Amino acid sequence: MERTYRTLLQWSIEHLTQAGVEQPGTDAQALLEEVVASSSEKAPPPLEREVDPNHGHRFRNWVERRAAREPLHYILGHRKFWSLDFKVTPDVLIPRPETEVLISHFLELKKNFPGQTSFRILDMCTGSGVIAIVAALEVPQSQVIAVDISNDSLAVAQENAKKHGVARKIRFLKRDLFDATHREDLGPFDFILSNPPYIRVDRIEGLMPEIKDHEPRRTFDGGSDGLNFYHAIIPDAVRLLKKGGYVIVETGFGVHGPVCSLIRETRAFTDPVMVSDFNHYPRVVSARKK
Ligand SMILES: C[S@@+](CC[C@H](N)C(=O)[O-])C[C@H]1O[C@@H](n2cnc3c(N)ncnc32)[C@H](O)[C@@H]1O
Repeated sequence: MERTYRTLLQWSIEHLTQAGVEQPGTDAQALLEEVVASSSEKAPPPLEREVDPNHGHRFRNWVERRAAREPLHYILGHRKFWSLDFKVTPDVLIPRPETEVLISHFLELKKNFPGQTSFRILDMCTGSGVIAIVAALEVPQSQVIAVDISNDSLAVAQENAKKHGVARKIRFLKRDLFDATHREDLGPFDFILSNPPYIRVDRIEGLMPEIKDHEPRRTFDGGSDGLNFYHAIIPDAVRLLKKGGYVIVETGFGVHGPVCSLIRETRAFTDPVMVSDFNHYPRVVSARKK
């Protein structure tokens, strides 16, 4: 049995490396910090100190879960997004840094409404609520509606909204995007934002075990061409946006071109704009309603 925090960390890094975990050192460190923090100790113990048995037991258990390729943030129970801390559970997609590109683009486009301070915003497929919550925080006069098909996701999103002090500014609604009833009662909106499921079915088998075996399939399965959700979102945007309002959607591998085509086919928008992420992948598409 490892006696010091240093030898315990060394064991965990070797174990996670053997299990094929991508960043064994970073993950082991994050797990140890969380174990120590959750036992209400303020500072991390010196690495040469003998391991507190409670820490050791909990840490080994978490390392085993991570070695079985459970995502780091499901074990930690939270994840940073837009420099804020959000609760995550296995009921929601773990928020990704790429989605911050959508938020930054939204804040840029908001500058095209000089003098307007109040905005109506719809977040379709809200999951943990990150998009709706950051929008509500960044645009204090906004009214936000956030929809998702999953009650469990909505419960996490509501908790996150409460944690960040915007629960009263966001209406969370259980809605199936493919159900045409009750659509019109939501609008009109200045912005429709969405990070929908967009992974093509034939690419799911090749995903990392952390995603395909642990994150709920409803959070990433975009159908045979990855476009299922855009076929619902784009026509909804035509119906629900005000004149001059924007639809802004996140896109994945091979999806942004067809999404631009879907937008152009409606003839209801100005030419779509594509924004790349920090890895230079096309990540976000936006268009303004004529
Ligand atoms: C990619 S996740 C996005 C989560 C969050 N917005 C984010 O960016 O981290 C997609 C979300 O769509 C929801 N969803 C799946 N099918 C749906 C449907 N038919 N109608 C509404 N929401 C749906 C899932 O429950 C999931 O929370």
